[in-house]
Amino acid sequence: MSLTATDIDLVCDFVRELCGISLDATKGYLIESRFTPLLKEFGLNSYSDLVRRGRDRTNQPFRQKVIDAITTQETSFFRDNSPYEALRFKALPELIDAKIGTTFPKRLRIWSAACSNGQEPYSIGIVLHQMIPDIHSWDIKILATDISDNAISRASRGWYSQLEIDRGVPADIRSRFFTPKDDGWVISDSVRALVSFRKLNLLEPFPPIAPIDLVFCRNVAIYFAKEQRDDLFRRFKKVMSPEAYLFVGASESLLGLGPEFQPQAHCKATFYRPNLPAPAVR
Ligand SMILES: C[S@@+](CC[C@H](N)C(=O)[O-])C[C@H]1O[C@@H](n2cnc3c(N)ncnc32)[C@H](O)[C@@H]1O
Repeated sequence: MSLTATDIDLVCDFVRELCGISLDATKGYLIESRFTPLLKEFGLNSYSDLVRRGRDRTNQPFRQKVIDAITTQETSFFRDNSPYEALRFKALPELIDAKIGTTFPKRLRIWSAACSNGQEPYSIGIVLHQMIPDIHSWDIKILATDISDNAISRASRGWYSQLEIDRGVPADIRSRFFTPKDDGWVISDSVRALVSFRKLNLLEPFPPIAPIDLVFCRNVAIYFAKEQRDDLFRRFKKVMSPEAYLFVGASESLLGLGPEFQPQAHCKATFYRPNLPAPAVR
């Protein structure tokens, strides 16, 4: 079915409303390749039929199909490497130090927002195991969320093909944290136990959430319009503990957001801390 300029506008508006992803006229090929199978599967005659059906909020299964079709789950273990080095050698040691003397010195709350197929939260879990020898005496939870049902169910399985493992997992980590299964590898129970998966649309208000010490929100907000992106990071700030860190994607920056966050650097990684108001002078 050929895609007209009107179809493109219609589909772009709908996708932006549904999950924040900003497409434009140059993405006609993407719209066609991702949505043609859906048109066939549901016997729809036009893109406007697809949008009409997708706007029906009572039809969640169809809306989820659209989300699964248009989102891109590109990810890998220890993606870009340097953020994980910064986590290992700077953010985590500083966070652990900052916790000493607080009410819960051995509690860490972590959020992998837009976790895709799970490589990101599991990579964080592996770093925690490597860096905290007495991890069993800690209270650590990694919340891993994504808008895509497919991504969440794949991530929950914790199974990865050889190719996915080869993209980023060094041999020593593979032998300590994965076991072979069905021509691939499954994440160890000790790392899996740290992570809980939940479906969540970052455009919607966050559910009640405990103060978060570490947020990874990488390679998703880059697809959002500026107002949605800024709003998202301001909402993150509200749920972050005073000593928290925020990691974004390699090509993302919070510099346009004003004084909300303070950039930090470690080797090639840039990450952020919330800027807190100065204590009142008495
Ligand atoms: C390119 S992947 C990034 C995965 C991982 N954070 C990384 O950097 O490797 C983007 C993920 O964002 C998810 N996503 C897209 N829009 C979203 C939204 N509005 N709320 C939550 N997740 C979203 C997609 O389903 C996809 O899994």
